[in-house]
Amino acid sequence: MTYKIGILGLGVMGRSLGLNLHRNRIPVIGFDPAPKVDADYPVPVSASVRDLASALETPRVILMMVPAGEAVDAAIDSLKPYLQKGDILIDGGNSFFADTERRAKRLKEDGISFVGMGVSGGESGALLGPSLMPGGGEAAWARIRPIVLSIAAKAPDGEPCAAWMGSGGAGHYVKMVHNGIEYADMQLIAEIYDLLHRGAGFSNAELAEIFAEWNKGELQSYLIEITAQILRRKEGGVDLVDLILDEAAQKGTGKWTSQNAFDVGAPIPTINAAVESRILSSLKAERVAAAQVFNGLGTDARMVLPDTRRQELVHLAEQALYASKVVSYAQGFAMLRLASTEYDWGLDLAAIARVWRAGCIIRAELLESVSAAFTRQPALPNLLTDSAFSVSLLARQAAWREVVQTAVGLGIPMLATSASLAYFDAYRSAVLPANLTQAQRDYFGAHTYRRVDREGSFHTHWESSV
Ligand code: 6PG
Repeated sequence: MTYKIGILGLGVMGRSLGLNLHRNRIPVIGFDPAPKVDADYPVPVSASVRDLASALETPRVILMMVPAGEAVDAAIDSLKPYLQKGDILIDGGNSFFADTERRAKRLKEDGISFVGMGVSGGESGALLGPSLMPGGGEAAWARIRPIVLSIAAKAPDGEPCAAWMGSGGAGHYVKMVHNGIEYADMQLIAEIYDLLHRGAGFSNAELAEIFAEWNKGELQSYLIEITAQILRRKEGGVDLVDLILDEAAQKGTGKWTSQNAFDVGAPIPTINAAVESRILSSLKAERVAAAQVFNGLGTDARMVLPDTRRQELVHLAEQALYASKVVSYAQGFAMLRLASTEYDWGLDLAAIARVWRAGCIIRAELLESVSAAFTRQPALPNLLTDSAFSVSLLARQAAWREVVQTAVGLGIPMLATSASLAYFDAYRSAVLPANLTQAQRDYFGAHTYRRVDREGSFHTHWESSV
């Protein structure tokens, strides 16, 4: 028996993808140096890398599911002696896109096609249908396309949530930005939760109902759905969420999004605020000490609200969360557009929005409107100016401002929500105070400035009296 695809790395994601391939009747074999599979795992496991390679039909297709970083290089090195020209190697981990480009270049010298494939959806996505973002050597796509499409999640209209992203590291780059938006989405939800819970005194049980209700409307999304479930979970009669330490960890994809945004010149303040909020959360001991210092501040007291006002705040919060979420997606997509030009990828933003409609962590009703916007106007520079979004942001901006003002008054931190609002206000400002910044640069560094009334480059001797 020869197999159509091999999986190197049978951790949670590799094992689940193996089951998904098996369920879709694609002959698959796996290998792991220390396999942890149940006795009834239906996918055969080979005894060595060599056996894995020789069990596959040629040219081979091998999917590596190993942790990003050095483990990927080590996996490639272990496979290399058994590979031949024409073989296709897929990296399905969260690798940094520049690493993917380096690996692709190296392997190309030996005629091996390297595909960097973003895989989103966690364990259950991998098992039941992830969102898949492959990119790299285009020739490989024709060969792996049927396999990739068959295991991908299916959107409500039946379209598989997988598409070719572009050359080089395009697939891993798109997955990186997906994770940046994921960080923002999660942080925005956490801030609204904090305002309503710590600020307005809603219980976890009440908030579970509120989030479940929101999930039936324009906020419908996987992250809102799981938030409602999380808030309902009890352990020993106590809400489990209250037993979890408030230090958010991170594996790096959000940070890479922020770092690369500076390289491509993309303003993504909501995503940056989400990354920084995780970093701030991890300073637990310092925060505990600072809480003692500012104990008498008196602004972070809980609001005592009459019932009608409480309900009103919930309604305002729903609108503020929606508006902030739209802005975070707008930032992510605008970044993808800039990166596409910078790295010459020709990214199809409408196709990316369609791939994210199901299977992935940021799947949301909203993505239907995002894909419609980019289908209507493929060159749209920013989602905010598409009529579907501009109208809904205008309708929600009063609520949005009131929520941020309420949080400011109470001393509840809303780094991401307020960054979304500030981005909206900056992006829609025809005039910004950068004229003053330019004057300062020219004052202390003779950096020159351009003028609104004349062409050219100007310098002023600021310290002279005229
Ligand atoms: C996904 C997730 C997944 C994972 C990341 C984020 O799309 O399925 O993004 O890739 O959860 O590792 O993890 P951190 O929050 O640890 O950075």
